[in-house]
Amino acid sequence: MIDLTNRVAIVTGAGAGLGRSYALALAERGAKVVVNDLGAQVDGAGSDSARANAVADEISALGGTAVPEHSSVATPEGGEAIVKRALDAFGQVDILVNNAGNIELSSFPKLDVRAMARVLDVHLGGAFYVTQPAYRAMLPRRCGSIIFTVSGVATFGNLGASVYGAAKGGIIGLFNVLKLEAARHGIRVNAVAPMAQTRLAADVDLEEYKAATRRSISPDLIAPAVVYLASVECELTGEIWSVGSGSVARLFVGRTAGYFKHPDEEGPLTPEEIAEHVAEIQDVNGFDIPETWPEEWTMVLERLRTDS
Ligand SMILES: NC(=O)c1ccc[n+]([C@@H]2O[C@H](COP(=O)([O-])OP(=O)(O)OC[C@H]3O[C@@H](n4cnc5c(N)ncnc54)[C@H](O)[C@@H]3O)[C@@H](O)[C@H]2O)c1
Repeated sequence: MIDLTNRVAIVTGAGAGLGRSYALALAERGAKVVVNDLGAQVDGAGSDSARANAVADEISALGGTAVPEHSSVATPEGGEAIVKRALDAFGQVDILVNNAGNIELSSFPKLDVRAMARVLDVHLGGAFYVTQPAYRAMLPRRCGSIIFTVSGVATFGNLGASVYGAAKGGIIGLFNVLKLEAARHGIRVNAVAPMAQTRLAADVDLEEYKAATRRSISPDLIAPAVVYLASVECELTGEIWSVGSGSVARLFVGRTAGYFKHPDEEGPLTPEEIAEHVAEIQDVNGFDIPETWPEEWTMVLERLRTDS
């Protein structure tokens, strides 16, 4: 049985949608929760403290422990204030769920630069601004679980969501580097790519889902994966899980065996040879999954050795 008693969790953007589900689920397992939410509109504008207050009250009414926090994740000061709230109220930080988000949908030529900044600041800026002080608080205790929120929009693409995809893709870059650095200090770093009906996903065509039950697109179906990744029972780090409608699956970047020509023994590659071997370059049979960039290099150098 996964028990989070005496663990302190920060969930950003926990006043609605997925974050609310995570905060409730973590509190149900005994965690003390900082419910952060700016109370923003879908595009990130505006603020309303009632949203975080309502979720913190909901948790308290259910017998859990929670405090509201209303800062924006999109500034360094906001990030510091969110973590300070956890330290002041509960003395430590064990779990950080970077979840706050907004969206801007627009064809690429029409994308407005101010909207672009708003999305990058909340997702990518927020991932840095909240994670850095939380990570610093975790370091002396040599434990902690950081969970980023990414998206299939970044891993696979979606029309009209260029800046959202870029922001989430930026988080994947941060995640891939931080997972290595954090592992040296006993801190685990994972990510979820959720799929659920929330106001942020209002533009996604859910007609097929709507024919099934309402429960199948509930944010509550993502929360169990977040609770597991947050728990000490989970020793995993560096995982990106796609979670939705009852499914949990690992997302990864792989490297095909590709085409190889030994530069010393067979001469340098030419563009024409590459054109001839596109099928081999693209063949996904027998791919590798490097866990680090140096590991990818080792795979290439290994090929040089075995072919010479
Ligand atoms: N719903 C999906 O299918 C889906 C898919 C992929 C990724 N995501 C990601 O999941 C996360 C949660 O999204 P959701 O679908 O629950 O959306 P949501 O709009 O229901 O909730 C997002 C919450 O974040 C808060 N927020 C926005 N800007 C903030 C800021 N600067 N500081 C603090 N709080 C802020 C909002 O006030 C809101 O309550 C987001 O990062 C989103 O990109 C959602």
